[in-house]
Amino acid sequence: MTEEIVVIPGDGIGTEVIPEAQRVLETVIDVEFVEADAGDAVKEQTGEALPQETYDLAASADATLFGAAGETAADVILPLREAVDSFVNIRPAKAYPGVDALRPETDLVFLRENTEGVYSGHEDRLSDDLSTLTRVVTTSASERLAEFACEYVGDRDVNGVTVAHKANVMRETDGRFRDAVVAVAADNGVEVDEVLMDAFATRVCLDPTQFDVIVCPNLAGDVLSDLAAGLVGGLGLLPSANVGPDRALFEPVHGTAPDIAGQGVANPAATILSAAMLLEYLGYDAESKAVHEAVEGVLSDGPRTADLGGDASTTEVTDAIIDRL
Ligand code: NAI
Ligand code: MG
Repeated sequence: MTEEIVVIPGDGIGTEVIPEAQRVLETVIDVEFVEADAGDAVKEQTGEALPQETYDLAASADATLFGAAGETAADVILPLREAVDSFVNIRPAKAYPGVDALRPETDLVFLRENTEGVYSGHEDRLSDDLSTLTRVVTTSASERLAEFACEYVGDRDVNGVTVAHKANVMRETDGRFRDAVVAVAADNGVEVDEVLMDAFATRVCLDPTQFDVIVCPNLAGDVLSDLAAGLVGGLGLLPSANVGPDRALFEPVHGTAPDIAGQGVANPAATILSAAMLLEYLGYDAESKAVHEAVEGVLSDGPRTADLGGDASTTEVTDAIIDRL
């Protein structure tokens, strides 16, 4: 069967790493790509950062692979996550043998609430001096995330979940979030540890092995997963999946990297690992595992891009990954 996958390269290094992930996907499955535009460049041409056609494609495809958008990132990625009705953003942060990492023992997965919190979009300018933001937390969204987390840890060899929150200050909103996660975990017989998110930031730097799967509100998941990227060797390594009930959108955690865009030196690993998550989502478990192993092999033995201390190009790294496949 030929899989149809929507690809949205976007801007900057998004346009450099997405074609590399496509080459990898073509190596392991029978696939047809439907290309769609989004981001700064298309906004300049048409006035719209996310054309309706692109939204509709993501909203109807089983799987979409997205690169990155620049200034318009929020206008692109938030609606795209909504298009797939994504209630969870899965962000693994793993150190790989051979990669110079601050904490080589890191092996974490962040399960980030993906629809509300301070990214709810309810911001107001009330006067020249005053702006406000409404933080939205619902029991239903928190429970949906927690139920996913319980299933997720059930499939893995981990002891339970950690819920990171700040319910000591945001008693109502984070209190609701925390209570929902704790209750769902108890119903499912999953062990749950609580940690205040600021303390988590320190503890994960000092000893990441204390944690496995971390369930967190939207902004905390965004920030703490980038922090974890710093522990494992940088943003060039972190993939992610935005999962909804019927479809999913996969993307590297990084942005358009304007400082290196156009030079052909971006690390394709984050996007190729996102493609591996896509393969697993579509049921290609063996192919997903093969891609993971090929990426791990190349990270360990080289060639490597400049962010990891090497001098290889984006294409050379992908070629080496494909050779292993
Ligand atoms: P960034 O992730 O683009 O870059 C941060 C640093 O990491 C830079 O030094 C960059 O060179 C490096 N880096 C990132 N990915 C890399 C890769 N694959 N290989 C090697 N080095 C890599 O974040 P930044 O600079 O904060 O944002 C740049 C633009 O990207 C902004 O316009 C922002 O709005 C957008 N952005 C978009 C996102 C999305 O579309 N999902 C996510 C984050 C930022
Ligand atoms: Mg981010």
